[in-house]
Amino acid sequence: MPPERANAAVIEARSIVKRFGPVRAVDGISLEIAAGRVTAILGPSGSGKSTLLRCLNFMEIPDSGEVLFLGSPVRVRDRALDGLRARVGMVFQQFNLFPHLRVWENVALAPRVVRGAPSPVARSFALALLDRVGLADKAQAHPSELSGGQQQRAAIARALAMEPVALLFDEPTSALDPELRGEVLEVMRSLAAEGRTMAVVTHEVAFARAVAHEVVFMDAGRVVERGAPAQVIDAPANERTRRFFAS
Ligand SMILES: Nc1ncnc2c1ncn2[C@@H]1O[C@H](COP(=O)(O)OP(=O)(O)O)[C@@H](O)[C@H]1O
Ligand SMILES: [Mg+2]
Repeated sequence: MPPERANAAVIEARSIVKRFGPVRAVDGISLEIAAGRVTAILGPSGSGKSTLLRCLNFMEIPDSGEVLFLGSPVRVRDRALDGLRARVGMVFQQFNLFPHLRVWENVALAPRVVRGAPSPVARSFALALLDRVGLADKAQAHPSELSGGQQQRAAIARALAMEPVALLFDEPTSALDPELRGEVLEVMRSLAAEGRTMAVVTHEVAFARAVAHEVVFMDAGRVVERGAPAQVIDAPANERTRRFFAS
């Protein structure tokens, strides 16, 4: 990445509001997902973390506010939105792998369908990505033969297959047994070490402290506090933040 792009916003949200009936799930949030940095989003259940993440790629259409992708405003049904969706990878709590496809086929699918990459190319790229997440030996397996941690690593490989400029994670380890979380967090840690642009909604405080450049603490649809992990997690200025991390 050329130096002038370092720390520029890959995705910028400006004053995003998203309501569900009377609930303001996201209540006026501005946020920058800075290039080459890891933004961790923490907060109690129901504070709007998932809705915010979904607003960034218009899986939820914001009621108001603006999303910029690589500096260009994104609107419903325009090319900037197609570009954003093709270049921003999402990893969810549920892995959503296709059960009838082999693991490598799951990873190769999007490049083949979206980009028309010829099959042998898509296949060798998928195999390389599976090796990258430590699953080279599971390429031929079906998802049901994998542990939850392995399935989530396959889902990360699938996200990487589109050569994303940013990765958004929504509680990627929350569905996993505790002993399987470490292997997924380790892959995420190594992606961060490569300088990948990442936003991670997580309850893994130790991971956020160790890996995130910025921590955003949300409550009731708002950003309560943000800053370096050492500040927000270990020396929060806000009473709500203090209570959250104390518990
Ligand atoms: N599709 C939806 N329909 C109605 N209410 C929703 C929907 N999605 C989220 N909400 C509400 O919006 C608020 C924020 O939810 P969410 O973004 O899932 O929070 P978090 O991810 O922090 O747990 C909650 O009050 C939740 O019940
Ligand atoms: Mg959520």
